[in-house]
Formats: sequence, C-alpha cells, structure tokens
Amino acid sequence: MDKHTTYKWWKEAVGYQIYPKTFYDANHDGHGDIQGIIEKLPYFQALGIDFLWICPFFDSPLDDNGYDVRDYYKVHENFGSMQDIKTLITTAKKYNIRIIVDLVLNHTSDEHAWFMDVKNNPDSKYRDYYIIQKANQKMPPNNWGSFFGGSAWEKLNDDEYYLKIFSKKMPDLNWANKELRSALYQIALWWLELGVDGFRIDAIAHIAKDTTYENSTLKSETMFVSDWSKFSNLPQVHAYIREFHEEVLAPNDAFAVGEVGGDPSIEDVLKYCAFDRKELDVTFTFDHMWCNNIDTATSLANLKTNVQELKEKLEYWQVSLIKRAWYPLYWNNHDFNRVVSNYGSQKYPQQSAKALATLMYGMWGTMFIYQGEEIGMENYPFTSIDQFEDVQAKGQYAATPTSQKEAFLKKLIMTSRDNVRTAMQWDDTTNAGFSPVKTDILIHPKYKEINVQQQMQDPNSVWQYYKKIIKLKKSNKTFIYGDIVFKDVIDEQVIQYERFDDTNHYLIIVNLGEYECVIEIPKVISIVLTNTSVTAICETTLTLAAYDSYILKIK
Ligand code: NOJ
Repeated sequence: MDKHTTYKWWKEAVGYQIYPKTFYDANHDGHGDIQGIIEKLPYFQALGIDFLWICPFFDSPLDDNGYDVRDYYKVHENFGSMQDIKTLITTAKKYNIRIIVDLVLNHTSDEHAWFMDVKNNPDSKYRDYYIIQKANQKMPPNNWGSFFGGSAWEKLNDDEYYLKIFSKKMPDLNWANKELRSALYQIALWWLELGVDGFRIDAIAHIAKDTTYENSTLKSETMFVSDWSKFSNLPQVHAYIREFHEEVLAPNDAFAVGEVGGDPSIEDVLKYCAFDRKELDVTFTFDHMWCNNIDTATSLANLKTNVQELKEKLEYWQVSLIKRAWYPLYWNNHDFNRVVSNYGSQKYPQQSAKALATLMYGMWGTMFIYQGEEIGMENYPFTSIDQFEDVQAKGQYAATPTSQKEAFLKKLIMTSRDNVRTAMQWDDTTNAGFSPVKTDILIHPKYKEINVQQQMQDPNSVWQYYKKIIKLKKSNKTFIYGDIVFKDVIDEQVIQYERFDDTNHYLIIVNLGEYECVIEIPKVISIVLTNTSVTAICETTLTLAAYDSYILKIK
C-alpha cells in the first residue's frame, strides 16, 4: 500500500497555533484565555482551520510561559478552568475543529509536586524521576551548557546538582525510570480521554541523555559548552517514543507532532517519523529558519535572505522525505521572530507575506499557521533589554560578557521569541482589540494598519490570500499528495518548483527579491493563485516585480 497517500485526517488538515496568553482576552483581565479561544472559533472556521495547537495552559509558575508545568491536570487560573477546556473541546467539535495539546514531557517545573518532594525530602521516592549528580568540587558535574545560557546544571544542595537543559526552574525528567514514564503516559491518556485529538510534544529529541555525563570536548570560548549532542537525538530516545506510541498513541489513534531540535539529519528524522516506525506522525525541524545573515546583521535593514540556501534547504527536506514520512509546513511558531521580518521585506511587507505563504504552502505537508501570520504581523520594535520578558532572552543576555552585550541586544531585537508573543491584532480599537483593559502584553504600534477586521474586509489582504491558499490546498489533492521538483534559483531571488500528479501539473513561482526580473515560463493554462493583479498570461516570459508570486496550471 502507498503509505504516502493513505488517508489520515492530519495530512489534509490545516493547523493553527495559538499562544493563549496573547491571543484574546475574553474575561477582561488583560490576559488571553481559553474563553477567548472559544469566542474565536467562528474566526477559525472562516479561515478554513481544521485543528488548533494550543501552547501550554497548564498550572505553572510561568517561568517559561507555561513550558514549566506545575500540574498537568490543572489549568492555570490566568487561562481559565478545566471546565473551559471541556467547553472548548466540545464547542470546537461543532465547528469540525480538533484540539491538539502541547505536552511537555522532557521536564517539569521545579514547583511540580514531584520535584518539591525531592527538594524537601532527601529520601523522596521521586529522586529518580529527575537527573541528579554529585557536584564536581563544588562545581556542576560537567561542562554542559544549557539552551538558555550558562550551565545545564543547577544546585540541589551542597553536594548535588540536577540537570536542567532549559531554565533552572525546569528540571529534566529521567526517562530511564519506568515508573516516571508510566506517570507521563497516564497524563497523556487522561488528556485523550478528555477529548483532544493529539499532541505537539515539546523537546522530544532531548528526553534521552548521554548517561556517562562526561565533559563535552567541543571547543568553546565559554566555560559551559553548547554541545547539544549530549542530550539530543540519542538512540535511546526511540525506544522511549516507541513505548509511548504503543501505550498512548496507537490505542487512541492520536496524532503526534514532535519538536525535534538539536540539528537532526534526514536519517535522524526518519527514525522519528518514517511511515513504518511507529513513533511520531511528523516532526518539526528548523533547518529552513536560518537562511539569512542574522548572525552578523545589526538590524532588520541589513538582514538579507539567502534565497539559494533557502531553496536548497526546502528542497532537501521535501525531496528526501516525500513518500517516506509526512512533513509539517511552517514559517512561524512561538519560538522564532516573525517571518515577514525574517525573510520578507521592510518595504513591501504585505506583498512579501503573500509571497512567503505561496512558497511554503504550495509544497506538500500539513500547514501550521501561527497566530498573526495570516495578517502579516511583524517583529515588535524593541529598543531596550527591559522590554523583553522571555526567560531565554534574559538568560542569554546575562551570560553574555559585558563588552558584547550591546551587539547581543541588537541580535535579540531581531531574533527574540518575544517578537511573536505580542497581542494578536484583531482591530483598530484599544490594545488592538486583544483586551479592553490595561494589559502588560505588548501591543504592536502598527495595529491600526495591520489587523484582522480590516483584512477580512479587504479583498487584497494577506488574510484573504491565506484563505485562498487554504481553500486551494483543501480542494485539490495534487497540492496534498502530488510530487515535487525544484528548479534552479534565478537571479539569486526567484524560487520555482512544480507540483504534479497524473491529473494536474502546476508551476509555483516566487520572487523573494526587491528587483524586477523577467523569467521564461512554459505555456500557461491558467493562473490558479497570484498576489499580483495579472489575470491571464499568454507569453512564455513573465515579468516579476518585487515579491510577486504565482501558482500556474501548466498542463
Ligand atoms: C520548546 C518550546 O517550544 C519552547 O518554547 C520552550 O522554551 C522549550 N521547548 C522548553 O520547554
């Protein structure tokens, strides 16, 4: 049987990621909530969304905005109650919208009952739920660095440290302990029982660690080394995920998308989600997110997309994985800066937002749209370190030597995750329609110009363009299952690829540059979608203005 075309609801579905804190404040306390998501269900229906991935809303001290879970069975009061979640699940079903929960299983909060017991009781039965090692002459057990800056270890007491590859308030769990694994599976099963359709599984690539705990030998200028190989994509991860699949996913036919960081190769990824692996359905990887000069650029004005590199990355993953595994298509999530700011144009932001949508969503795979992407929201104009809220930004800034802080701040302004965590721009009223009361959430100053209400009324808006591309994707199987072939990049700015099957043949053309260029094209049967005002093409040459894009039927 052809596993590529075997029907699974999530292959043909369009997902939308919600960062609940900044999405919509229904109860008017200045903070986004679950009721806010319920109120916006008709909005998702209008756009054509089939499932929602909601970032963590569990009880938490919110050190990392909910990725530090204190109680997996409780909703944080800022977001509402368990009853609200139940209402969301049942009401969403009426709109044919499924709910995907963000499951954080690599770590808990240090305020979770298990870890509290470990801290307070030397004989705690939960000690082995975490990774605790002897101090090395009063120093951390080894030189491993944390994703959030500094050491990957934090002091538990005078003689011991616990592993925390993210923040010190997020102790890593010890998946080698079977009892712990069972407790985690119970959590997942409980949520499935409640009615969710699956999970986005956080940091899944890191659940197995190098248990020799030997120092990293990578060269480093800092005392603690950013050597992700010590806790990323290790062989043991797969034994754990298979068990999770067998005990949790398979019996419930639940959808699972794993976040796979740590620079995985195609072979690594196939181990997680090849059709016959019985592990995950899809994995998020990040290769295509860094194809510009963001490491050296000092501001958005001199940020430049390397179009050749971007095309190569997209081609590599699309062509290597097709017919072997399924793929998630995304430009944005809650951990990156806004795609319009990253790869789009300062001069033509809305046009470039549409071009980027054409490029990404014309490919094969499940669409994941991040809140605000569908209206072309942009990075926040940060000016000082005090405006940042993210524990990662603050941790990395603190770990940066004083002489480099200024340069680091410039980088942070462009790259920080806080750029995508500003209030959703609903309309041009107070706080962009996110909340009518005073709020701590940042409101982008451009909200009067860029907002949902205005864009739903404007036939040429980014929102309308997203709606069209979603409709196209859902009404035409060639865009879901069809093959893909990329062409050479033209003038370092035009990406082209073809999508085809026995019935249809399409050419997708995207100009990711600000210069006009003329390209040769085959005979065009019809224009399926474009962000230009062109209505017919009779020639075999096509003039592309800045960020023009087309989906053309060519056979
Ligand atoms: C990945 C999540 O996407 C990110 O937001 C979080 O900070 C880390 N995992 C830790 O949970």
